[in-house]
Amino acid sequence: MISTFIASALWVVFMALVIIILGTMAIAGLSAAPWVPLWKKDIRRMLKLAGVKPGEKVYDLGAGDGRIIIIAAEEFGAVAVGYEMAVLPYCLAYIKIMLKRLKPKVSLKYANFFAEDLGDADVVCTFLSPAAMAKLRPKFEAEIKPGGRVVSFAFHIPGWEPTKVEKPNQKTTAVYLYQR
Ligand SMILES: C[S@@+](CC[C@H](N)C(=O)[O-])C[C@H]1O[C@@H](n2cnc3c(N)ncnc32)[C@H](O)[C@@H]1O
Repeated sequence: MISTFIASALWVVFMALVIIILGTMAIAGLSAAPWVPLWKKDIRRMLKLAGVKPGEKVYDLGAGDGRIIIIAAEEFGAVAVGYEMAVLPYCLAYIKIMLKRLKPKVSLKYANFFAEDLGDADVVCTFLSPAAMAKLRPKFEAEIKPGGRVVSFAFHIPGWEPTKVEKPNQKTTAVYLYQR
């Protein structure tokens, strides 16, 4: 009797977790992009193109498992902030940041980045859908400070002229840099 009750309770908890994980991933996917992690070599390309310097504030809109903010802090000396709204990648990023003891150089916020202020960022990183880039454009125009940069993997900001495009060959995906 008690074991049946415990088994049922565990099943309910398990199903609730599955629904939360899949549900938040679906919502994030519809909001701006599904979780597709970048290769580390492409992250380094982005951060190099943006010319990230020690002490600069780097934001990642849709931080996934935290790989951009971790590399920005560990290899470029940045103060990095990631926004993520899907529970599974958020938890993975959180665990990595804790294990590597990267706080307070790296912080992670469980938040919808469309509702967050970007005014403090020196560099904003994106790997998001074309529709999300179009939706972000007026936000970037209103919030990114003079001299601030946006570096985007694969997708450009419609209507903005990139300061630089890095695409060494036909097979390599483009990285776009914009300076305000
Ligand atoms: C293509 S992945 C990029 C992950 C990571 N930046 C990387 O390069 O490895 C996009 C991420 O954005 C997250 N995302 C989508 N819409 C979001 C929103 N409105 N607010 C916060 N995170 C969002 C997704 O959950 C996903 O993890």
